[in-house]
Amino acid sequence: MHSGLGRRLWWRTRKNSEVDFWEAWLVGAPGTEEWRSDREARLAPDTEIRDPLVRAELERNPAEEISILDVGSGPLTALGYRYPDKTLTIVPVDPLADEYDRLLRDAGLDPPIRTIRVAGEALLEHFGSRRFDIAYAINSLDHSADPFTIISNMVAVVRTGGIVLLRHKRNEGESARYGGMHQWNFDVVDDSLLLWDNAVELNIGSELEGRAVTTASISQGEVIARLVVSESD
Ligand SMILES: C[S@@+](CC[C@H](N)C(=O)[O-])C[C@H]1O[C@@H](n2cnc3c(N)ncnc32)[C@H](O)[C@@H]1O
Repeated sequence: MHSGLGRRLWWRTRKNSEVDFWEAWLVGAPGTEEWRSDREARLAPDTEIRDPLVRAELERNPAEEISILDVGSGPLTALGYRYPDKTLTIVPVDPLADEYDRLLRDAGLDPPIRTIRVAGEALLEHFGSRRFDIAYAINSLDHSADPFTIISNMVAVVRTGGIVLLRHKRNEGESARYGGMHQWNFDVVDDSLLLWDNAVELNIGSELEGRAVTTASISQGEVIARLVVSESD
């Protein structure tokens, strides 16, 4: 794991590539054509929850009001905003929210829900424990300095019986040769969720034993993990 000073230096040198990417993405600059329909869906306030993983949880949960935290959401959450017969509270957070606000303003765009500036490492401090029904992260934790702390925080801010969902490309740090913000790898070996880089390898299920029950699988090159938060957390 990175030390405090190492993390700050790492963050400063890497964040520009992320901001540059989103600046082009938000205005539909040449080279971003493949994301056009994605951008339109994220800008439309009536977009239904898109990820089948989240839809399945909404179907399972009989409550009418459900809160979902999106960790590392970027400037516009990918989640969607509505679901039939449910009242959703969606809270997107990202440490680059201030930069994203500037990009949105420059592009003349008004997000259906504005991303709040909170790093995953500060979730527990910011929100307190057991606040959400679902905590979700897609394509973000492997961009962070300390994904294990973030997963641990996601478990802490979710209610007993609530769900943490993680969706990341398999071994993205290796694939991207640790370029840009890609610093970590998620993988599944013998049904266990592994988080690794060239210095450490963590079995998330074992690390969080007693706090959450972790299941993981690989689907179409993505590592999908579902953590059910335990009573004792
Ligand atoms: C590739 S973007 C993905 C955004 C969004 N989840 C999506 O799929 O469109 C990765 C995001 O992770 C965020 N990120 C990086 N470090 C983070 C951290 N420590 N906590 C939370 N998010 C972080 C970045 O700022 C960036 O917005």
